[in-house]
Amino acid sequence: MSVLSPVDTTQADVPLAMAPLGPAQRLYQELLQQPAENLDDARAFLHEQLRQAAALPCDLPGEPADLAAWSRRNAAQVTHQYAAYLEERRNGAGRRYFADRAHALYFLRGVAPTKLVDGAWLHGTLRHWRDTRFTPLVRTFLEELGDGVAAQNHVLLYRRLLASHGCDDLTGLDDAHYLQGATQLALGALAEEFLPEVIGYNLGYEQLPLHLLISAFELDELDIDPYYFQLHVTIDNSATGHAHRAVQAVLDNHPLVADAEDFYRRVSLGYRLNDLGLGSRAVIADFDLERELLEMFERKRGVAGQVHSDYCRIEGRTVNQWLGADEGIASFLSALQRRGWIRRHHDPAESRFWQLVQGERAAMFGVFSLYEQQLLHDWIAGTWERPGTGALSRNGVFRSRHRQPHMPSQERQRPSLQPRENPEQRQLLDELQRLDEARYEARLIELQGPATHWTPAGLLATRLFSELTR
Ligand SMILES: [Fe+2]
Ligand SMILES: [Fe+2]
Repeated sequence: MSVLSPVDTTQADVPLAMAPLGPAQRLYQELLQQPAENLDDARAFLHEQLRQAAALPCDLPGEPADLAAWSRRNAAQVTHQYAAYLEERRNGAGRRYFADRAHALYFLRGVAPTKLVDGAWLHGTLRHWRDTRFTPLVRTFLEELGDGVAAQNHVLLYRRLLASHGCDDLTGLDDAHYLQGATQLALGALAEEFLPEVIGYNLGYEQLPLHLLISAFELDELDIDPYYFQLHVTIDNSATGHAHRAVQAVLDNHPLVADAEDFYRRVSLGYRLNDLGLGSRAVIADFDLERELLEMFERKRGVAGQVHSDYCRIEGRTVNQWLGADEGIASFLSALQRRGWIRRHHDPAESRFWQLVQGERAAMFGVFSLYEQQLLHDWIAGTWERPGTGALSRNGVFRSRHRQPHMPSQERQRPSLQPRENPEQRQLLDELQRLDEARYEARLIELQGPATHWTPAGLLATRLFSELTR
């Protein structure tokens, strides 16, 4: 299923019919498409997640008053660890996270369900924007949405990043990859009931983690635009950024009359929700190039089984026979190696099989996405010393020692990068003019939901809401 159409549940979702969705992914899709109709499921899910979170250790200070110092200490420690990492690298150590580009792209894809709903846990706080205790949460949410500027909308940035590397098809991701995203969506839909947990979750999510810094550094090294990750290093900072605001939100919402102890207990439970499911480091550690490659070929096998001509035979079998064979794709890849079609641990350009895949004139041009090509490329290359970053260009040509010009962040932030008003935006403006104040506001909030805020109408709604709340 393409992530470029998460609101579309129709024919395009062929894989959904083949493999039933896991519970987290199903809830994720339901809450994206029809949050109001799935609140009971969201509530049951959150109760279960919170039950699990209660069994996890918690490193929050005992007193909320100590949170600001705790957050600063955490940031200082991470900065210190990152300096040590850089020192290690300067002294010749290899990358800590990503063995090759395929590994890095696997990571981008693996955390995509979470990143594609970035900020969603705060959506339910918008209706309280007049209450200044909510200001830190509402401001954080609007910044996640880039205040309606496309070039700064975190979800759009991530969607573009995935698309530019052919990683936008998330077919085959395990249910565990959807757990954090489902949690974020459920919190966003039920903020009224779970406000302390939302505040706690936000506190955990917005602290600066070491993996963010290392990922940004190593992605850049591998010629993958690190902007999305760099942006979070700066925007989530503990002095003035989201981490600071997250602490402020706990302090501001500390109840004066109700049970303060119970509030902080629930904040700490919400905080621990961040530790359930697959985090960034777990996704990185889980990578197995050969397993990914075989799964990719297995997914292709269903459609490719009959389309090859019988002209070419490998060890007496046609390609169609190999693809239809019971023993699976691994035996075909072994035969290709035995017959010299694939020469592992050499420059992939020397493999005839790679020549069929790579380049515009290749017989299998367009069969493999850029991500899939990278898996194949890096698997063939194996221990072969790559001359550059191992990056493939759009037409599959191996790109060595060529760095993509990264857009400087100043340039990205110019409002001129906003999309010009389009028909949907004009229609929205017409519609809004006919609404009274309460309905106007409700409509803007609705359009800032996780499935729509990154569309032209959603971006406009965010800009108008952002103006309203300043
Ligand atoms: Fe973000
Ligand atoms: Fe943030």
